[in-house]
Amino acid sequence: MAKHILAIDQGTTSTRAIVFDDRARRVAVAQAEFAQHYPAPGWVEHDPEDIWRDVLATAREAIARSGVAPRNIAGIGITNQRETTLVWDRATGEPIHRAIVWQDRRTADRCAELRRAGAEDEVRERTGLLLDPYFSGTKIAWLLDHVDGARARAERGELAFGTIDSFLLWRLTDGAVHATDVTNASRTLLWNIRDGCWDATMGELLGVPMAMLPEVHDNAHVYGTTAPGLFDASIPIAGIAGDQQAALFGQACFARGMTKSTYGTGCFMLLNTGAEAIRSEHRLLTTPAYRLDGATTYALEGSIFVAGAAVKWLRDGIGVITNARDTDDMATQVPDNHGVYMVPAFVGLGAPHWDAEARAAIFGLTLGATQAHLARAALEAVGYQTLDLVEAMVADGGGHPATVRVDGGMAANDWLCGFLADLLQVPIERPADLETTARGAAFDAGLATGIWSGLGELEALWSREHCFAPSMPDERRATLVAGWRDALRRTLTTSR
Ligand code: G3P
Repeated sequence: MAKHILAIDQGTTSTRAIVFDDRARRVAVAQAEFAQHYPAPGWVEHDPEDIWRDVLATAREAIARSGVAPRNIAGIGITNQRETTLVWDRATGEPIHRAIVWQDRRTADRCAELRRAGAEDEVRERTGLLLDPYFSGTKIAWLLDHVDGARARAERGELAFGTIDSFLLWRLTDGAVHATDVTNASRTLLWNIRDGCWDATMGELLGVPMAMLPEVHDNAHVYGTTAPGLFDASIPIAGIAGDQQAALFGQACFARGMTKSTYGTGCFMLLNTGAEAIRSEHRLLTTPAYRLDGATTYALEGSIFVAGAAVKWLRDGIGVITNARDTDDMATQVPDNHGVYMVPAFVGLGAPHWDAEARAAIFGLTLGATQAHLARAALEAVGYQTLDLVEAMVADGGGHPATVRVDGGMAANDWLCGFLADLLQVPIERPADLETTARGAAFDAGLATGIWSGLGELEALWSREHCFAPSMPDERRATLVAGWRDALRRTLTTSR
């Protein structure tokens, strides 16, 4: 019997394909980084053909490396960068424009206009989100208004919208299936999280024809099968989840109150709130965590736009470091931050500030500041931003987390994990498998294809590699946090 799952993790800067066995152990991995396009300040685009090429290549390579015959792959689980927006022609499958990436700020003015018109309360109630260019809705409208003839074609039903999962599903099934899952749907500003359906009022508000939207299913669901010729066998696509919800699932945070924080390009903290969709009063997002057999579990989410991206900028943007991994050593080379703070608002600030106009700044530079201090400031900023999220979650009644489970590439950094424990004053648990996003997608596909029978079985597959305990004296912590607050105050704009 087929007992392996192929997980495709299509992220913001890279695509990974991983074959897991029925103990959720990684059997083979393939990865490819792809180009980022910055056509104007604050704009970020991806070429969908790059993404499709890499998905196919990495999937084939991972299967080949695993030694598992394609007919023995029980299912494919897709997880993806969320909110990134694509519109394509239903007849040809050709995108009408490059994908507008979640980090893109081009619709900031439109969001401000909608806020001024008093729309935000209703948007929050219906979608659990806020009016920010982060989400897909205003990006879709931008495409319809800026690509010649697109709006009329969309209204005639000729164009399809999808987040990356949906586009991949379309391509993998050769145009047979236009669908997505509830977690991706919920990031569009068009999904009503309370009624669990597309929301025509939101479509009208944003100017998005409902005919463009995909069908929406549970996370563990057989969406379709791969078209002939892509692999040596037809493989069911049996799970889809947005990457942050997939990480929560892969971390086995199934009980109310459990929290995970993922450190990739950005940082996304999700707190499982069970069957209750808590309305945030502190500018967090209310979002479905997963839907299985029609039953939705919700989460409160704090979205930070820049975490690892600041380290990438230190490396690629200004050449201060040569290798992202060096930041661990650099941070420990210096006894403290030397008063240097970085507020990484490169694409504005997400939760809990939602300041689309803010831009990154470094404070406290003196002639004694070195590369190591800059590296340390970038890592410290990840910690302070996480602290801001935890404080908002506590204020929203989510309770102080007993522990936080971390994952993502930056979670391999011991110094960062220790600093997080000190700042948040909770134990930081690092799992044995840091690929929790792909693991979550594999869990979904494995549930749909009968490899695993339920959450209890998945929970038993999670194990901890290390636990970082808080040890920083209170006074030192208070001084550091005060420095961050001051830097943050100076960076925020008055646009809200
Ligand atoms: O909401 C954006 C998020 O899904 C991107 O995740 O891992 O590609 O930084 P990542």
